[in-house]
Amino acid sequence: MTKWFGAGLIIAAIAFISCNSAQNENSTTMGAITKKDWGEVDGKQVYLYTLTNKNGDVATISNYGGTITSWTSPDKNGNKSSIIIGFDSLNTYLQHPPYFGALVGRYGNRIGKAQFKLGDSVYHLAVNNGPNSLHGGLKGFDKVVWEASVPDSTQPSLTLNYLSKDGEEGYPGNLNVTVVYTLSDDNGLKIDYTATTDKPTPVNLTNHSYFNLTGNVSNTILDHSLQIDADNYTPVDTTLIPTGEIKTVKGSPFDFTTAKKIGRDIASVPGGYDHNFVLNKKDSSLQKVATLSDSVSGRQLEVYTTQPGLQFYTGNFLDGKFTNHDGHPLNIHTALCMETQHFPDSPNKPDFPSTILQPGQTYHTVTEYKLSVKE
Ligand code: GLA
Repeated sequence: MTKWFGAGLIIAAIAFISCNSAQNENSTTMGAITKKDWGEVDGKQVYLYTLTNKNGDVATISNYGGTITSWTSPDKNGNKSSIIIGFDSLNTYLQHPPYFGALVGRYGNRIGKAQFKLGDSVYHLAVNNGPNSLHGGLKGFDKVVWEASVPDSTQPSLTLNYLSKDGEEGYPGNLNVTVVYTLSDDNGLKIDYTATTDKPTPVNLTNHSYFNLTGNVSNTILDHSLQIDADNYTPVDTTLIPTGEIKTVKGSPFDFTTAKKIGRDIASVPGGYDHNFVLNKKDSSLQKVATLSDSVSGRQLEVYTTQPGLQFYTGNFLDGKFTNHDGHPLNIHTALCMETQHFPDSPNKPDFPSTILQPGQTYHTVTEYKLSVKE
């Protein structure tokens, strides 16, 4: 009796495992996540993870740069396409596209003259954007291989970890960073960032996804409507470093306090929008700060964040060099970014909210992009 019971249990266990996990040559499926080999960088294995939620929405994310390579969902007619710009092959990412879908750090956005003073020391960073340092330097968090783990394969959630060594790209302190991506069942793509350090250091982590809600980059984003809950923005000099002023958006092309088409006033902003908006929220709780919508696809994307700023960038430097999933070249204004962040150049701007993380503190921010469709 016991013997038959034991054998039955083994057969049931084998059946359970084969239903819940499938393996082929280079991919493994466990519950809500599929993992496939995607290549190798710096002698480390790179994977592409596919996260699927209960509605069949799919996000693909790689541990190379923590890059979201696509987020596919239906439009109002049920046609599926990715609203996030990206490529199907790792090789294209190795040609250094402008941060498509990537995690950006140790300091997202610019640090003026590529240097800052902390305590008694002046730290020098890579000069990689005019006279400034942009997005963490020459080899920022977008170009490294992160350690990936799947704590619970029944959930479409992926954990990435990266240890940025003391002195890496000129920044002080060993910074241990964890980012958790979750595709929720209410079609939210949530990004949870934590970090700790052993020396004081500036930290400003963000994700650099480019969106086009039509899912087809032969359309620009100029007809998308945008509302940003920001009465002020930080004006910049000619090298895109904030002047330090916090300026009202009233009466200017930067007024997105009520929804308007992005193309309406863009011609009066030399070069297009590439500015940090000072969000109206008064504390670091998770709040809705922006809503992007497109009437053709019916898609709407809401941005929730704990952060004080949002860099709104209209793909001004896209020049057709790269081709999106949909086969179309990525030309100027074919995609936009809403990078939640602290303000650019904060380490040199004592009046801006501080970005300095101290040993013993934990950096923790959350941003969620929520997608819905209107008929
Ligand atoms: C950010 C910057 C832009 C540009 C892009 C990448 O959004 O603010 O100026 O550098 O990244 O091309």
